[in-house]
Amino acid sequence: MYKAKAYSAASEKSVLASTRIERRDPTENDVQIDILFCGICHSDLHQARNEWKESFATTYPVVPGHEILGRVAKVGSAVTKFKAGDLAAVGCLVDSCGVCAECKQSMEQFCTNFTLTYNSPDKISGGMTYGGYSDSVVVNQKFAYKVPSTLDPAGAAPLLCAGITTYSPMHHWGVTKGKKVGIVGLGGLGHMGVKFAHALGAHVVLFTTSPNKKEDALRLGADEVVVSRNANEMAKHAGSFDFILDAVSADHDINAYLHLLRRDGNLTLVGAPEKPLAVAAFNLIFGRRSLSGSPIGGTIETQEMLDFCGKHNLTADVEVIPIQKVNEAYDRLQKADVKYRFVIDMASLKSEG
Ligand SMILES: NC(=O)c1ccc[n+]([C@@H]2O[C@H](COP(=O)([O-])OP(=O)(O)OC[C@H]3O[C@@H](n4cnc5c(N)ncnc54)[C@H](OP(=O)(O)O)[C@@H]3O)[C@@H](O)[C@H]2O)c1
Ligand SMILES: [Zn+2]
Ligand SMILES: [Zn+2]
Repeated sequence: MYKAKAYSAASEKSVLASTRIERRDPTENDVQIDILFCGICHSDLHQARNEWKESFATTYPVVPGHEILGRVAKVGSAVTKFKAGDLAAVGCLVDSCGVCAECKQSMEQFCTNFTLTYNSPDKISGGMTYGGYSDSVVVNQKFAYKVPSTLDPAGAAPLLCAGITTYSPMHHWGVTKGKKVGIVGLGGLGHMGVKFAHALGAHVVLFTTSPNKKEDALRLGADEVVVSRNANEMAKHAGSFDFILDAVSADHDINAYLHLLRRDGNLTLVGAPEKPLAVAAFNLIFGRRSLSGSPIGGTIETQEMLDFCGKHNLTADVEVIPIQKVNEAYDRLQKADVKYRFVIDMASLKSEG
């Protein structure tokens, strides 16, 4: 084992603070990565503050962070995918059973025995896994991805969660040219959703509660922007969408969006608010509409998404911050005040004792 610097929360009421954690020495299939950048996902905030306690309680101390990008420092003897000095990225998963039907199809996000990058029992070292708010991480090469060298590294880090979480359901539900696609919420996930839907050729409508985000949404690739608190603007789109991706982090009325789907249209929830959402049955019954959810993506699809981003030069719009500003960033994230992803520059961890 070796010591790594990190930021952790000690309880749901604590702010994040500097700490030291233990990482395992790389085993034969592991890569040890010096972390350059780590994005701040709203899931980090939900878990640091134990907002998912009903379904997925947090074990403290927690080191959040699953949008990790860095440089390979060391590789185990059986590693073929990377060598020291390569760029490598890690997302929300660091392990899975490898033998179930889902794993065999590289859909590890559905494995019932996966290991999340943080706040998950660590099957190799014991204790809990620790995430990317740290200067170093060790991971099996299967769960480390190659990053196209043309992409800005800080902007590429959020692809590992915000990117794959929006890319995967669009592929599953067949977002292509000619489809009308809605994206709800212009945050980290939502802004990647807009970029992907646009790159896939769809007609993109962004729904926001923040009228001041309108120009940005158009610049990011939306064809239309609807301020969702305006009932008249909403009514104009009734029954017209093939697909809507809901990326809202807090309680909101999804019936207002179900109603906008056409026959057989689908609304996929990727946002995971603390409290259950109410669904009016007739909004699904009329129009045979469907409501579903989607978690991140598997290993093959994640690499495919990164390669797609390389080809289309797609990255997140980021605000790069030193780790000492992480608590301030959380407070701003809570207020939907981010353009459009905070990313921690891990060089700032060097000054911590
Ligand atoms: N399914 C998965 O695998 C997965 C993966 C990652 C994250 N998530 C979840 O997805 C959600 C979004 O994550 P994120 O990192 O993109 O968060 P984020 O950057 O904070 O964005 C959330 C956006 O939701 C909108 N919003 C916030 N509060 C609202 C309210 N009370 N009513 C209506 N709209 C509101 C805001 O957009 P506007 O200002 O435009 O309204 C805000 O920018 C979180 O719940 C997160 O945990 C799920
Ligand atoms: Zn995330
Ligand atoms: Zn499995």
